[in-house]
Amino acid sequence: MTDTWYIVTVQPGSYDLDELADWFRKAAGHEPVEVSRPKGGGAWIEVYFERDIEAQICARALDLAFPGIVRAVRSCREKDWQTFWRAHFKRRQVGAALELIPVWDERPEAAPDRHAILIDPGLSFGTGDHFTTRFCLEMLDELFARQVPESMLDVGTGSGILSIAAAKLGCPRVDAVDNDEYSLAQAAENLKLNRVDTVVTLAPHDITQGPPEGVYPFVCANIYGKLLIRVAHHLVATCRGYLVLSGILQREEEQVAQAFLAQGGREIVRDGGGEWTGLVFDFKS
Ligand SMILES: C[S@@+](CC[C@H](N)C(=O)[O-])C[C@H]1O[C@@H](n2cnc3c(N)ncnc32)[C@H](O)[C@@H]1O
Repeated sequence: MTDTWYIVTVQPGSYDLDELADWFRKAAGHEPVEVSRPKGGGAWIEVYFERDIEAQICARALDLAFPGIVRAVRSCREKDWQTFWRAHFKRRQVGAALELIPVWDERPEAAPDRHAILIDPGLSFGTGDHFTTRFCLEMLDELFARQVPESMLDVGTGSGILSIAAAKLGCPRVDAVDNDEYSLAQAAENLKLNRVDTVVTLAPHDITQGPPEGVYPFVCANIYGKLLIRVAHHLVATCRGYLVLSGILQREEEQVAQAFLAQGGREIVRDGGGEWTGLVFDFKS
């Protein structure tokens, strides 16, 4: 991996954040990272490139597609990126049994009744700071307390955080997929860090290309609303139990819910944090 990244940062202004994120996915072929200001004041999008020229081309294309957009290109050394995370990612307890701990924390142990999940975020998504991840973790915590499933599929694993949580909560087999090579590399590091690399299997997979092989009693997909709708049939094909969906903007929730109801699911949870909504469907019966 490179130790210098070139970052295009965009402030949406009057443009729609979701539309911008979609543009990046299609035009730049990169998964954008949404960054929120810790104390309100809006959000912005960052996209990482390995080469300066790629970032510059993307920024020019952005100017044409979104006239007047406020954007910047900067370089960032891996070291600086880590400094950013050290300031923003703090330990936190989630649900009844989980505790998220940044890898640099001086006390890597969780409270006695909790499982420690050590995370080095690197360039991947998934520290538990974001509602979308927290919702999935809370659902894992709650539903596994009733019955630990024999296996789980984690679609869009990012930092690997949900797979690590599932393994720590006792799931004996977890399969995690992502279409982003950096996320897979970062997830591999985090699995080792948490000593769950024998339980969790990582694989490159693009969910738009079809369902991964196998069926699972528990599936998590924290991707994004439009993609969930597009791949609903692929996700449902893998699931014979609970399907946890996240990454859904509140205004998309009804459309996403309808897509999964149409596939024969029974909605059992709908929970929102204001901007975002998480859904759980039961595909057992
Ligand atoms: C919002 S992050 C979720 C990360 C982590 N699972 C969490 O809950 O924090 C979404 C992840 O989905 C991946 N992703 C996006 N589109 C995908 C696709 N078509 N197929 C597989 N993974 C995808 C991204 O690379 C990213 O790592």
